[in-house]
Amino acid sequence: MQDIRRKTVAAILAGGAASAGEIVDVKGWVRTRRGNKNVQFVALNDGSTINNLQIVFDLSKFSDDSLKPITTGSSIHVQGRLVASQGAGQSVEVQADELEVYGTAPVDYPLQKKGHTLEFLREKAHLRPRTNTFGAVLRIRHALAYAIHKFFNDKGFFYFHTPLITASDCEGAGAQFQVTTLPLNGLPKDEAGNIDYSQDFFGKLASLTVSGQLEGELGATALGLIYTFGPTFRAENSNTPRHLSEFWMVEPEMAFYEIADNMDLAEEFIKYCINYALEHCEDDIRFLNDHFDKELVDRLKFVVENDFVRLPYTEGVKILEESGKKFEFPVYWGVDLASEHERFLVEEHFKKPVILTDYPKEIKAFYMKLNDDGKTVRAMDVLFPKIGEIIGGSQREENYDKLQKRIEELGLTGMDWYMDTRKYGTVPHSGFGLGFERLVLFVTGMQNIRDVIPFPRYPKACEY
Ligand code: 4AD
Ligand code: MG
Repeated sequence: MQDIRRKTVAAILAGGAASAGEIVDVKGWVRTRRGNKNVQFVALNDGSTINNLQIVFDLSKFSDDSLKPITTGSSIHVQGRLVASQGAGQSVEVQADELEVYGTAPVDYPLQKKGHTLEFLREKAHLRPRTNTFGAVLRIRHALAYAIHKFFNDKGFFYFHTPLITASDCEGAGAQFQVTTLPLNGLPKDEAGNIDYSQDFFGKLASLTVSGQLEGELGATALGLIYTFGPTFRAENSNTPRHLSEFWMVEPEMAFYEIADNMDLAEEFIKYCINYALEHCEDDIRFLNDHFDKELVDRLKFVVENDFVRLPYTEGVKILEESGKKFEFPVYWGVDLASEHERFLVEEHFKKPVILTDYPKEIKAFYMKLNDDGKTVRAMDVLFPKIGEIIGGSQREENYDKLQKRIEELGLTGMDWYMDTRKYGTVPHSGFGLGFERLVLFVTGMQNIRDVIPFPRYPKACEY
């Protein structure tokens, strides 16, 4: 069949009743077919929108047999005329003139019914993008990625590409995946019995990056304002609804920014992204609101419209200690706050996003700027309802001697290249990292981070 003028379902529905009379070609996957012996109705989805296009087959033009292959999941091409719809729920529908079946879908097609559980769909992750729910999530994910680039580009930031394979361990957390071509069943050893990495592909120990920040600082101390946006990898054995082993991170790094500038940027940035999704993904967010989380839209609007609380860690701990609440993990000054503590501050105490600052230096990374008290660093974690930590960042220690002392205390090595930023023309600077999937989790209202990335990786799970 000749393709006269292919239009996406999104474009057709956006045109509405005004385009009645036009001949169009539509191509997509069949969601449902119903009807009687005079007329059959097909709900067609092509992924461009959550909404289906109704195709009407008049059985005086089409034989029963010709429509038989059109079952749920099959793919078709229809040519026909747009007409104002008589049915409720759509402005236009297509009166089919011609039909081409690209591919049938036998009865074992796993997505027959509506209302599969998210757990079931996780088992069928290779097909779940075809469901309404995942279609909505993935379109929102795209819109947020675009909003991130737009936000930074419009502010004069440069997209700076940091390596995925790295020889440095940014956070010092040691939770890295190694990259090697050495034979694992016969590793070469040196005289001392240690693995001889000089024989490895890169001639040294290499790993997948846990963060692009340190290399990002090299960009910021040259280009001024940069951001990274790419995959990061963490080999922690965290089986939680907030952790992935492969996730995407956005890391802006700004020369001449102090901690307050950093907080202002983080708050403006995250509100911009949420607002962008509210404005551009209305149908998808509405669907998720109606099917999964009735408070989603209200929660998104609330975050955009209200100032975040800014609070030093020390005061946060005091609030937790005085709350009288029985936490699973104990709270005291110096402790790395658990998710239950963060969520208490955000959801029960302030009922707003909170930016917690000035953490004890012992629980934060070596590069954070030491405060005058000698005990705390200029860290900032942005804590969100339902999510907990969505952003982690800090002002960086720009003083060569102080940073060198910290590196020695922690026994870090191979940092000369990083120290050169402090040795030559050092400047105050700051940055932060946003966990992209945690943002998608918040904006979609989904409960599990494994449901907001197409192909999730977590301990014991690496399909496709
Ligand atoms: O707090 P993190 O570890 O900070 C850094 O990596 C810094 N280098 C960022 C910077 O200052 N440039 O990670 C940043 C964010 C967290 O707040 C969280 O949202 C997300 O990354 N994140 C994860 N998201 C999914 N799965 C995981 N395993 C994550 N670990 C961190
Ligand atoms: Mg953190």
